[in-house]
Amino acid sequence: MSASPQVSSPIKESVEALLAEMTLAEKIGQMTQPEKNSIPAEDVTNYFIGSVLSGGGGNPAPNTPANWAAMVRSFQEAALKTRLGIPLIYGSDAVHGHNNVFGAVLFPHNIGLGAARDPELVAKIARITGLEMLGTNVHWNFAPAVSVPQDIRWGRTYEGYSEDTDLVIELGVSYLKGLQDVEPRALASVKHFAADGGTAWGTVQTYDWIMGNWQSADDRWSIDQGDALIDEATLREIHLRPYQAAIAAGAQNIMVSFSSWQGIKNHGNYHLLTEILKQEFGFEGFLVSDWMAINQIDRDYYTCVVTSINAGLDMVMVPFDYKLFISTLTAAVEKGDVSIQRIDDAVRRILRAKQWLGVFEQPFPDAALLNDVGSDEHRAVAREAVRKSVTLLRNEKDTLPLAKDTPSIFVAGRGADNIGLQCGGWSIVWLGGDGAITEGTTLLEGFKQASQNIRYDAAGDFSDARAEIGIVVVAEPPYAEGMGDNDQLTLSEEDIAILKRVRPQVDSWRWSSSLAAHC
Ligand code: GLC
Repeated sequence: MSASPQVSSPIKESVEALLAEMTLAEKIGQMTQPEKNSIPAEDVTNYFIGSVLSGGGGNPAPNTPANWAAMVRSFQEAALKTRLGIPLIYGSDAVHGHNNVFGAVLFPHNIGLGAARDPELVAKIARITGLEMLGTNVHWNFAPAVSVPQDIRWGRTYEGYSEDTDLVIELGVSYLKGLQDVEPRALASVKHFAADGGTAWGTVQTYDWIMGNWQSADDRWSIDQGDALIDEATLREIHLRPYQAAIAAGAQNIMVSFSSWQGIKNHGNYHLLTEILKQEFGFEGFLVSDWMAINQIDRDYYTCVVTSINAGLDMVMVPFDYKLFISTLTAAVEKGDVSIQRIDDAVRRILRAKQWLGVFEQPFPDAALLNDVGSDEHRAVAREAVRKSVTLLRNEKDTLPLAKDTPSIFVAGRGADNIGLQCGGWSIVWLGGDGAITEGTTLLEGFKQASQNIRYDAAGDFSDARAEIGIVVVAEPPYAEGMGDNDQLTLSEEDIAILKRVRPQVDSWRWSSSLAAHC
């Protein structure tokens, strides 16, 4: 796979000139990414911070597109007050639309888009997501995930397009180009490098030295962030090819995976991050860590910082104690444990991506884009995606499609009338939510738009009547990451009870079920 398109000469020249002016403090500031609740805007100025992020649920209050734009603007204005006025890039997980923002358009998760198998649609979704992000001053999307899930017990399976690498490449590259190749461009983060979807069940470590770390605090984590016990040939064939394709398609940023490969944490693996990704694959962009991920490398934080930066990490999603990170890396450079050449290489990569993104010339996107967040035009594409993502698994006796004049239809199941359950994880907040978490059309509302003969009961209690057709909507509670690791992939007792309650009340029982991955 050829190396990425070379960085243009003008960008290279301007970056070298800027780099030559920078102090060590200004350089290390560019490598530091705090989360927005952990840093006052004035410290973005004081510490020359290169990026701020919103983690899942890192929303302003009230959570509106306008408040998002104002929140991000305040951080950018602080960055522009620094001596050299280097703009920051604000990052957020817009993994199925600009999903943290109330009222933004949400799309099916990648698993649904994989089922739809429509690269042009994925490019449209990426374009819309980019426009809605830029409408809120957010330039950097921590997407697309090019995970290749190999074990569906993984809580992040739904964030992958497919278990098939070639389909992941086709759709992941489409998303990347949709986000980056059209003006105004947004920055993609291709994630999580590498083999995040190739770990083995039961290989998750606990990190009792990390306060409040989910893996130590919650025993559901069983495969997410575990160890990929595969040989290098398998790693390359299944999990590395999407990154080669993304680099060839112009990727400027890659996020490193929490997981390990053959017992070595990816965040500390020089062979993976530098020898393979940067040297062999020719990646000229920058690597960002995952959320506090470097802390998992060792009990000693100094060792975490030195090991990860020397392995090839360029920016650290700290995300809390940015002062400690900055002082630790500064000490490591002063002691010679991290060379100034490594620092310059990291900062050069970051500045090139910012130049490529255009934030030096235009640190604030066109304010008019804010008006299009949640627009009907964008929602029409979401509806198209929902239609195409619905997957028919069985259709005995041609039950589907239902005739428009079906005289009586029962609908049951909480998921029929619950936007939160429809949207899944990474929706407004990290783990998603229950009920009217954002704007949208529930399944029941959609059914009622198509037929006047609908009767709904969440529990499926229709003991006083009969109907020709029964629809039971089965929906799992939303989750994210390892909180969704699950080796009991069965229907809940409640859903089984609803099915049993509805079945005797409908005239003819025929199995037809569809996997409606939508939101
Ligand atoms: C999370 C996820 C990653 C996300 C990041 C920032 O832990 O692993 O996908 O981009 O943190 O929210």
